[in-house]
Amino acid sequence: MYILGIETSCDETAASIIKADIKTGKILVLSNIISSQIEIHKKYGGVVPEIAAREHVLNILPVINESLETAKIIPQKIDLIAVTKGPGLITSLITGVETVRALSFAWGKPVLEINHVEGHIYSNFIEPKSTIKFPALILTVSGGHTNLVIMEKNNKIKVIGETLDDAAGEAYDKGAKMMNLGYPGGPIIAKYALEYKKTLNHKKIVKTDLLFPRPMLNSNNSNFSFSGLKTSLLYQLKKDPTWKKRVPEYCFAYQQAIIDILIAKTLKAAKKLNVKTIMLSGGVSANQELRDSLSRAIKNDLPKVNFLVPAKEYTTDNATMIAAAAIFKLKHQKPALFSKLRVDPSLQLK
Ligand code: KG4
Ligand code: ZN
Repeated sequence: MYILGIETSCDETAASIIKADIKTGKILVLSNIISSQIEIHKKYGGVVPEIAAREHVLNILPVINESLETAKIIPQKIDLIAVTKGPGLITSLITGVETVRALSFAWGKPVLEINHVEGHIYSNFIEPKSTIKFPALILTVSGGHTNLVIMEKNNKIKVIGETLDDAAGEAYDKGAKMMNLGYPGGPIIAKYALEYKKTLNHKKIVKTDLLFPRPMLNSNNSNFSFSGLKTSLLYQLKKDPTWKKRVPEYCFAYQQAIIDILIAKTLKAAKKLNVKTIMLSGGVSANQELRDSLSRAIKNDLPKVNFLVPAKEYTTDNATMIAAAAIFKLKHQKPALFSKLRVDPSLQLK
């Protein structure tokens, strides 16, 4: 079947068409169109909801058109529309859901409402490098979310831990803001951190005197906390008159703290729950250092466990992951009547 996915939960207007085999879960991506507003929000140091909403309204129809044209498919051929219901910015979500309401009415197509975080989780099911064995543990790390979920089988998800305050991506974004590095902070901090690592690599040591806390590293649960780490960066910058000359080193040490926490928590949960697969998802999973370090840690500590990461184009917000989630939700979730479609900015994972 052909599924049109639509995603507008934050600052990316995205539409995608996939051809899916419901029985096997096999997905063929026919188009993955993303109109990013990063350049617009950059000058404000973060997403401005009012501006994001206006941009979504301008971009949504051209993006859907482009996804149909790229996939070389006419609307009549679409079997199902999948749209992000939440969580996210209400003013952004509304554009996607209201557009889908109109399309569903005009084209006479059923609609499945999808949880954005579930979309991230199922990004691992788009062209996976190996088979996914259950139970699987999924670490989702993005600008708005950080959680660990256990998947007993397709579509059976249970949240086992989440952040008590900031998300991992937020720690990157706010850290970068404190050092005036720009937005979004993740890729910028990652670039500086790599620069620092390379200068030291030739001596075979990657060392710094900067010390950052690893909150909740040894707590007896799978929850996370990043706000203390962020505050620690703020105080260290205030104390250090030379920090502007040491930006790569700060980025390296700060990123290392984030990665150490994510890896320790993931491995601990994986051992406790005896999982067969570990998957990574969300915008922060684009981070090469995190991908490499987690992969290494799993090989060392849990050599029998399979490790999967989505291709980089499916890590940050996209609509292919929303269409992919629909395949697995379809078996258990009834399509919504177009008149009943609603956004839910605080939608929880169930
Ligand atoms: O999944 P996403 O596009 O949006 C949300 O659902 O929140 O994630 C965006 C987040 C931002 O915080 C951004 O800084 C982070 O992902 N990010 C990265 C990298 N690329 C994006 N963080 C670390 N390293 C990266 N390479
Ligand atoms: Zn996201």
